[in-house]
Amino acid sequence: KPFSRVALRGDLIDFSAQPALEDPQSTGVRVRPDHWLLIDGQRIVAVQAEAPGPDWPQEDHRGRWILPGFIDTHVHSAQIDVIGAWGTQLLDWLNTHTFPAEARMADEAHAQALSALFLDSLLAQGTTSAMVFPTVHKHSVDALFAAAQARQMRLITGKVLMDRHAPDFLRDDVAQAERDCTALIERWHGQDRLAYAVTPRFAPTSTPAQLAMAGGLMKAHPGLYMQTHVAENRDEVRWVAELFPEARSYLDVYERFGLLGPRAMLAHGIWLDDEDRALLRHSGAALAFCPSSNLFLGSGLFDWAAAEATGTAVSMASDVGGGTSLSMLRTLADGYKVQAMAGRHVSAWALLHAATRGAAQALGLAQEIGALEPGLMADVVVWDKACTPLEARRQAVAQDVHDAVFAWITQGDDRHVVATWVAGGLRYRRAPSPGRQSE
Ligand code: GUN
Ligand code: ZN
Repeated sequence: KPFSRVALRGDLIDFSAQPALEDPQSTGVRVRPDHWLLIDGQRIVAVQAEAPGPDWPQEDHRGRWILPGFIDTHVHSAQIDVIGAWGTQLLDWLNTHTFPAEARMADEAHAQALSALFLDSLLAQGTTSAMVFPTVHKHSVDALFAAAQARQMRLITGKVLMDRHAPDFLRDDVAQAERDCTALIERWHGQDRLAYAVTPRFAPTSTPAQLAMAGGLMKAHPGLYMQTHVAENRDEVRWVAELFPEARSYLDVYERFGLLGPRAMLAHGIWLDDEDRALLRHSGAALAFCPSSNLFLGSGLFDWAAAEATGTAVSMASDVGGGTSLSMLRTLADGYKVQAMAGRHVSAWALLHAATRGAAQALGLAQEIGALEPGLMADVVVWDKACTPLEARRQAVAQDVHDAVFAWITQGDDRHVVATWVAGGLRYRRAPSPGRQSE
C-alpha cells in the first residue's frame, strides 16, 4: 500500500462555522481535548474520543494542539531573498529590493532550488497550502508547481504578468504572456492538488491590453483563480488613478477587465471605500490581510470590521518578502495588533479561522482543506503550546482555553511546530533538541 495509517492523539482545534470577530465566547470553534484523529491514506477518516484498535499506528501528542494546516493566501516565493530589507515603502521597495531578487529567477536552477527551499520553509512553519506569486518567468511557475507536486501540497500559483513600468529584464508582452499562460494552464491546472491563478502583478505594471488578455483567460478557462494586489499604499493608489482615469477606483480597474469573481484573491485592500467593498461582495472576490507587510512597508491599517460588515471574505497572508515572516502565527499576532490600533480586539478564534477554514472557504476549497473532519485531506499540524520556561508558565496560568490559545498565538513561531502532515504523508518533523523536555 502506498499510503499508511496513523492515529494522532492530542487536543484538536478547528472550526465548524465562522466565529464573531471580537467575541472569545463566540460559537463556531470546536475544541476537542484529548481526541484521536485518524488518517488513512491521504484523508482524515475519523475523529473520536476513544483509542483506535491495534491495527492503527499511534502517535501520542497529549498536551499539544492539533490543527488543520495553515493556508497562506498571499506570498511571493522569490522574495524570500528580500525579507527584512531596510528602508523603503512599496514603490521604492519594489525597485530597490524586489525586482533585482526576482530577476535572479531567470536562472532555472536557481528557480528550482529556491522553490524547494520556499515550500520546505512553509511546511516547517505549519503552512500546508498557499496562493503564491512566483515571477514573470515561465519556468518559475513550472519549478514551483513541480516542487509542490513532489510534496503533495495544495498550491495555487501562476505566471506574474507585467508588461510595463518594470525593468526590461522583468517585462513580458501580451502575446508571449498569453502563450505562456495557456501552456502552463494546460500543463498544471487541475493536476493533483494544483490550480492555476491568472496573476497580473498589479494595475500599474500591466497595460490595458494585458489586463484585457488576463480577463480573457478567466473567461476562456472557467475554474481558474485570479490573484493581484489592490489599494496597498497611498502613492500606489494615486498612480493608478493617473494611469486609469476612466476607472472609479483602483478596484474598479480590475472589475472593468473582468478580473473579479468568486476565485479572485486581492492582497491588502487598505485604501478601499464602501463602494469598493460593495463591489467585492457583489463579485465574490476575497481580500488577503497582510499585517506584517502592511506594518513593515508602512502601508496602512486594514479595516477588517468594514470588510466583514460588507460580507467580504478575509483571509490571512504573510506577503513575504514585504511581510517579515512566513509564520502564520506571527502573521496572526501582527493582525491582532493592527486591529487593536483601531480599538478592535479580534479573538483567537477569528484569527485562526481566517488562516484555516475561512481561507479554505475564500478559495472555494472547504470540502478539501481547512478543518479536521472525516473526508477532508489530511493536512494536519501538531503544535507545542510552549517552548520556553516563560511560555510554559504563561500556559500554566491561562484562565481558559481562549486565553491559552491567544497567548500561544502571540508567542508562537516555527519552534512550536512538532510535525506537519500533507495529504496523509509526514512532510516535516522537528529535530529533537537536547534542551527540550518530552521529545
Ligand atoms: N504590489 C505589487 N507588487 C508587490 C509586491 O511584490 N509586494 C507587495 N507587498 N505589493 C506589491
Ligand atoms: Zn504581495
